[in-house]
Amino acid sequence: MCGIFGITLEKRKPVGKLLTDALKHLEYRGYDSVGIAVTDGKKSFLRKGVGFVSDVALEKRFEELDGIAGIGHTRWATHGEVKEENAHPHQGCRDVLFVVHNGILENYLELRDFLIKRNHVFRSETDSEVIVHLVEEFGANEEGLKKVLSLLEGTYAFVVLTKDGTLLCARKGSPLVVGKFEEGVVVASDPIPILPYTKKILRLGEGEYCIAKGRKLLYRGSQQPKTVSWSERSAELGSFNHFMEKEIEEQPLVLKNLLAWLRDDSPDRILHGRIHLIGAGTSYHAALYGEYLLRKAGYDARAFIASEYTYWKGEDPDIVIAVSQSGETTDVLEALKDYEGEIIAITNNPLSSLASLSERVFLLNAGPELGVAATKTYTAQLTVLYYLTTGRIPENLPSLVYESLIRNKEAVKGVVEVLKDRSSVYYLGRGLNVVTAKEGALKIKEIAYIHAEAYPAGESKHGPIALVENGFPVVFVMPKDETYKDSLSNLEEMLARGAKGIVVGNEPPEQPVMFLSIPYTKDPRLNPIISVLPLQLLAYKLSVARGYNPDRPRNLAKSVTVK
Ligand code: F6R
Repeated sequence: MCGIFGITLEKRKPVGKLLTDALKHLEYRGYDSVGIAVTDGKKSFLRKGVGFVSDVALEKRFEELDGIAGIGHTRWATHGEVKEENAHPHQGCRDVLFVVHNGILENYLELRDFLIKRNHVFRSETDSEVIVHLVEEFGANEEGLKKVLSLLEGTYAFVVLTKDGTLLCARKGSPLVVGKFEEGVVVASDPIPILPYTKKILRLGEGEYCIAKGRKLLYRGSQQPKTVSWSERSAELGSFNHFMEKEIEEQPLVLKNLLAWLRDDSPDRILHGRIHLIGAGTSYHAALYGEYLLRKAGYDARAFIASEYTYWKGEDPDIVIAVSQSGETTDVLEALKDYEGEIIAITNNPLSSLASLSERVFLLNAGPELGVAATKTYTAQLTVLYYLTTGRIPENLPSLVYESLIRNKEAVKGVVEVLKDRSSVYYLGRGLNVVTAKEGALKIKEIAYIHAEAYPAGESKHGPIALVENGFPVVFVMPKDETYKDSLSNLEEMLARGAKGIVVGNEPPEQPVMFLSIPYTKDPRLNPIISVLPLQLLAYKLSVARGYNPDRPRNLAKSVTVK
């Protein structure tokens, strides 16, 4: 949630432009509103507004601001509605201190009362604003910062900018990473906007702080910098229209790279005893895939939605496999809070909270995923789970995924026409294909705003079929595997009630349906990695056809760091 960026420089530079560029890279974390504060050492400037980075930056002329330091923020609202006053940065009583914050302060009302009694005047309804007033109260220096940290309850990653160009940075619960480069120091809520400056990135430890000015960085914490292998170009759009489109198309290459990494690994005897898998959203679907494969391989495994885990888990397992592309999803981290057993992380973020608390980390090595809807990280997660369970490197997988992509880029257009004006659609499948149906339905909901429900196909006749009337679209995921024959019967049932059938499979059935073709694999466990491609493409193209921006689905943010 929310993106934070800060920079200190030895010499005066076009800080407004540097902040704008960084915020564009962070926009996937939140896009309700945006703002920057810049100082040249003598004067400070605060500019913010509601809307997307490029629009607000243009309107408020972010790029005309030069200086020696600055902070910026893209917001995904938690406390206080979306309006200019609630956009970050927030300033103290005078225009000498500014803060950007990510997280939720639980005791902010108490702190606000305390500060109001001390004559502080608040301008916003946010919890974040108390931080800047507290720094004002206790001093914009190391001692003052320590005092402020001792008063804050809840989660935070924040950066305070002072008029003389110092950044006071701290984190607890929410991530904050720092990098040094030749001309200064950069700090951000994730590594992506830091990559143009340096690939050596330090993640502040839990409860730690740092202070930066010019090229100097004061850090008394316990962490060491790590080198992030992502190229800075991977965070650029290139010739694509949207990041989601780019990331869908990257999948064959991502999987090829991932298999190369996995080849150097040894999964032997990692798994034992009782295994729980947890994840949220798309990552939960990956967890379900893992459950299926592990159970078939004879393991005692069960998948849980992360936010439900503590209610449903029963006795602690021997191993938790935590699936999270960001590694920062609060629901996942909360689920692991009191767990003392072994954790295996499957994540795309080597600097994440999840990675730091896990015994064993499987990195997806997918490069940054900036589309809010997960695509390439999902197929990478499934691939890691396949490898973990079977110990096999599926050498032909990248070419099967490529084939699936090529076959469907144009083919989905016909289905887009059918679904474009519909308000509801079912996604059905059996066995492992239920996972793909769920993922396909989630994608459509998220970015095309069409109500989509996934069901095990056999279950559809126990209720959902009641909604089906002439023309009601039903997508069947039915490759030629053990489920095929039974799925065919369910398809018949739907067609008999007037449904418009759309089949994702290896060969078109005899029935009059629309058909999306996927290549055949002898190992049906690979099917979900292949058959999700047409469904990703369908959701993407449907979103565009309905006039939406698939990279910025309403109400959603890439990394959900609240409960
Ligand atoms: C769906 C989507 C979300 C995430 C979920 C978990 O397209 O992106 O449902 O999958 O918020 O995020 P991670 O994997 O970062 O824990």
